[in-house]
Amino acid sequence: MSYQSSLLAVGIEFDDPALEATVRDGLQVIESALKAAVRSEDEFIADVAKYLVNAGGKRFRPLLALLAAQFGDPASDTDGVVMSAVVCELTHLATLYHDDVMDEATVRRGATAANTRWTNTIAILTGDFLFARASHILADLGPEAVRIQARCFERLVTGQIRETVGPKPGVDPVDHYLSVLADKTGSLIATSAEFGARFAGVDEQTVDCLRDFGEQFGMAFQISDDILDIASEPAQSGKTPGTDLREGIQTLPVLYALQSTDPAGSRLRELVSKPLEDDAEHAEALALLRSSEAIQQARRTMLEYAESARATIAGLPEAPAKAALQALADLVGVRSG
Ligand code: IPE
Ligand code: IPE
Ligand code: MG
Ligand code: MG
Repeated sequence: MSYQSSLLAVGIEFDDPALEATVRDGLQVIESALKAAVRSEDEFIADVAKYLVNAGGKRFRPLLALLAAQFGDPASDTDGVVMSAVVCELTHLATLYHDDVMDEATVRRGATAANTRWTNTIAILTGDFLFARASHILADLGPEAVRIQARCFERLVTGQIRETVGPKPGVDPVDHYLSVLADKTGSLIATSAEFGARFAGVDEQTVDCLRDFGEQFGMAFQISDDILDIASEPAQSGKTPGTDLREGIQTLPVLYALQSTDPAGSRLRELVSKPLEDDAEHAEALALLRSSEAIQQARRTMLEYAESARATIAGLPEAPAKAALQALADLVGVRSG
């Protein structure tokens, strides 16, 4: 899959044309609402706030909200589904502005990252501006929606902080990594599914299944992103490969490499045990990781989460939306395979 910014850029193939048409229409409505949500009378703020929206992205969280809504009543709160999906994409966007400051990233969604194009201060404040806009929309969605998003956002930020601080003494680094992933990525993907389902009037038990799907899928998605950081080209990810290594963020392939006692991996272990700012060492570590057993092991773990996502919805009645969610779970395995 190459880096794209079109609708359904996530690359999912729909078996059911009616579902595909519904999702396409829904994503278009969400796109317009998203553009409206980042407008400002201040020309500069408007330019920075719409910058990443216009740069593209997969719109994967809104897609999940729309698919989860399919398990409900078609005559239910369509506006709630759409606007809660906008809240999720705005929250995601805001975290990207902030995350690129944290990672000192230079490229995002195939464009110069906002912190590099402007400054860290502008990127941080624009992220806050987007959070504020998400809150405006949430106020109209009611107190329960505010509570769900607040809890999600708390988990997301907690994950980002815990990643930055690293594991406490005595905590297994892989356990730490996996719990960070659940918080920083699983939380918002789970909430996207939950919102879509709730506003479509889905029963509680099915909402739980769909939220769990989002959480497990989110784990697979982030492991796959972490693998792509090592294995992909910028044209595929729209980001600079090797950013995690440069920043000294030990993702799953690195953690597995460090756990290994294979003498053949000693040079790799030496390299990845610190942030890699030297260009030659960085390139050497990337090359060693790409052909390592550790990256294969990380792929296997990612596939286990994708499988576990499939299992969470196995009991739901057969429907085109269920097949689409299962196809998504399969796709995450393929994208970094
Ligand atoms: C990037 O998310 C951040 C992660 C949680 C890995 P996406 O891969 O969904 O980014 P966009 O929205 O397509 O740019
Ligand atoms: C960030 O994870 C996830 C969130 C923004 C919460 P990453 O740091 O791996 O995301 P990318 O790779 O920069 O998109
Ligand atoms: Mg990042
Ligand atoms: Mg990443």
